[in-house]
Amino acid sequence: MRRTQSSNDWLKEHFQDPYVKLAQKQGLRSRAAFKLLEINEKDRLIQPGMFIVDLGSAPGGWSQIASGLLKGRGQIIALDRLTMPSLPDVTFIQGDFREQSVLQALHQSLNGHAIDLVLSDMAPNMSGMGGIDQPKMIYLAELALAFAVEYLKKDGDFLVKVFQGVGFDDYLKLLREHFTKVVIRKPKSSRSRSAEQFLLARGKR
Ligand SMILES: C[S@@+](CC[C@H](N)C(=O)[O-])C[C@H]1O[C@@H](n2cnc3c(N)ncnc32)[C@H](O)[C@@H]1O
Repeated sequence: MRRTQSSNDWLKEHFQDPYVKLAQKQGLRSRAAFKLLEINEKDRLIQPGMFIVDLGSAPGGWSQIASGLLKGRGQIIALDRLTMPSLPDVTFIQGDFREQSVLQALHQSLNGHAIDLVLSDMAPNMSGMGGIDQPKMIYLAELALAFAVEYLKKDGDFLVKVFQGVGFDDYLKLLREHFTKVVIRKPKSSRSRSAEQFLLARGKR
């Protein structure tokens, strides 16, 4: 199959991206790993001993960073539609988070543990059309929030990716109802032309 001009442009940008090069050099699974690293450096989210759920985890950059920060004390349940190679202290569930059976599998794997931190870097497959992608993104973020509200321990934290656009402000409002402090983060490693924003909600009420 012949490549289109836009896929050629994407490949060129991807391989020239300093974070892609750095991820390869440091043995990180994705450039996305730097986003969590940057947020964690600023907000000190992850500590040894925590129980963490990582939604939309593949190929495993965030889980890899979180696993390193746990220093062998703690546990991560990672979930994605796509498969993901194993990591220390990470239990992986493959499935679509929108499906009840997958939520049930996640519930079982928690084994009654209170969760300290829910991460969601889930994003829909992009069509490039905002009217299609944005509602899908907000829906995933809403599902992640519903999960966080049900399963996080009191005072637990939630970090979620959302695209700026229709529904963003209402989602932010919803987060503020459930958490004592909500801040918006746009790490340097997140491309400036990307609409993605990371909402960090701390202290579940
Ligand atoms: C930006 S990538 C995550 C990158 C990851 N945080 C890392 O550091 O490697 C977004 C992920 O969300 C996943 N995803 C999107 N919709 C999903 C769904 N409904 N259920 C589970 N995973 C989903 C995709 O398969 C994709 O792997």
